[in-house]
Amino acid sequence: MHHTWEAVDHYFEAATGASDAVLSAVLRAAADAGLPPIHVSPLQGRLLTLLAQMRGATSILEVGTLAAYSTICLARGLSPQGRLTTLELDPRHAAVARANLAAAGLDDRVTLIQGPALDSMRTLHARGHRVDLVFIDADKAGIPDYFELAVRMALPGAVIIVDNVVREGKVLDDSGQDPSVEGVRRFAASLSADPRVTATTLQTVGVKGYDGFTIALVARIP
Ligand code: SAH
Ligand code: DHB
Ligand code: MG
Repeated sequence: MHHTWEAVDHYFEAATGASDAVLSAVLRAAADAGLPPIHVSPLQGRLLTLLAQMRGATSILEVGTLAAYSTICLARGLSPQGRLTTLELDPRHAAVARANLAAAGLDDRVTLIQGPALDSMRTLHARGHRVDLVFIDADKAGIPDYFELAVRMALPGAVIIVDNVVREGKVLDDSGQDPSVEGVRRFAASLSADPRVTATTLQTVGVKGYDGFTIALVARIP
């Protein structure tokens, strides 16, 4: 079905230059390898770049790499000496992502850890790894756990972005039947009582349909 918002997405994609040869090559390699086309859209990727730049991010953590499309967008917003760590469960996705990061010239600034993200986050946290921007975009059932660890790893003033919190309004399904929806709902239900963060949700439409991001700011004085 054609939606006006797809054409508008393409219009602003061209107007802003949010797509380029590097990102197009990432998508071609991902499609050639048979990976699902569930990466952030070009304009959403530009939002990730801008949020990282606005934060002056020096230590970014990404949960859910796929082919490294969002990884590259985030890495482009790193400050000059900044580093990014990205976590991916699927070894096939990780292999495609590593090749794409090398082709983008970012393999010296990005570390990909292959394995269950919760294990990797616990290890990083135990080692004292600290982050100033986190993008949570892996399995949706895991969002409450990923968010809690992200807050614990956060430097004061860190930004945490959670993808796919709307899912065409599926977030309103309170039947308890869908583990992805339950993950988002349990996370959302925790936000207002959490004094460590201030959050909002931005509903989005575009080439990925109707979805949204929750964006949280971790307090500077906890
Ligand atoms: N952030 C990417 C899209 C990620 S898609 C982009 O926008 O370009 C979600 C990814 O999370 C998939 O690659 C999937 O394999 C991965 N994933 C799912 N469960 C995971 C887990 N438990 N730990 C780490 N990664 C996981
Ligand atoms: C799915 C996952 C995503 O991270 C996304 O942005 C879109 C779809 C999915 O699992 O279907
Ligand atoms: Mg996503």
